[in-house]
Amino acid sequence: MRQPLVAGNWKMNGTRASIKELLEGVKNGMGEVTIAEVAVCSPHIFLCDVQQQLDGSAIAWGGQDVSVHESGAYTGETAGAMLAEFGCKYVIIGHSERRTYHGETDQLVAEKFTAARKAGLVPILCIGETLEERESGITEEVVGRQIDAVVEHCGIGMLGEGVIAYEPVWAIGTGKTATPEQAQDVHAFIRARIAASSQAVADGLQILYGGSMNAGNAADLLAQADIDGGLIGGASLKPADFLAIATAANA
Ligand code: 13P
Repeated sequence: MRQPLVAGNWKMNGTRASIKELLEGVKNGMGEVTIAEVAVCSPHIFLCDVQQQLDGSAIAWGGQDVSVHESGAYTGETAGAMLAEFGCKYVIIGHSERRTYHGETDQLVAEKFTAARKAGLVPILCIGETLEERESGITEEVVGRQIDAVVEHCGIGMLGEGVIAYEPVWAIGTGKTATPEQAQDVHAFIRARIAASSQAVADGLQILYGGSMNAGNAADLLAQADIDGGLIGGASLKPADFLAIATAANA
């Protein structure tokens, strides 16, 4: 039985004041969320505030990216150990926005996965196809390649220590959600791809869906056999919406 996980990806949003209010709202509404785990991935500059506010609560937190390096002359980067020092459990790796705007390759993402694990963090590995790739019929080829890169670099055992988030790029921030069937098809494919290396890892791995998941569509998506939770962008910035998704994951 895989525990559902609902993780917020705040991206580059918020102020110290707005985040305080957001976390207060989420903390106060957690009463019904007893089965699913809830986490928030914050801009790194706010992690000290997040830690102070969430310490001792049931809510976990994480970063949005990690350096492949442990320390040194890498201006603007954040090391895994730094995230760990601020209590992060998770770190998002290879989000499509980083792959697109920062040129992150499958190889770099695999190296970041290893760096996160070395620091004791749980990587949330994002994979997913663009609209063009979907329309060309190569969705499985793309997500297969993205997974294989991590398995080849890290080994199947290490992959099993992370979480996968399937985020079709065309569904991110667009209001266009994959249908539950479309998402389930890809999730099942991902699990089968991993099962080819290890059935035990495939059975235990949490595979989240991300891409315009909201309070209205979460329950149908989360009811799918291979969807174990969500990685939530826009809706994670509103306590009521985020809690509604967490509550749906709890069912
Ligand atoms: P939205 O929920 O805003 O579409 O973002 C999804 C996402 O990119 C989460 O990482």
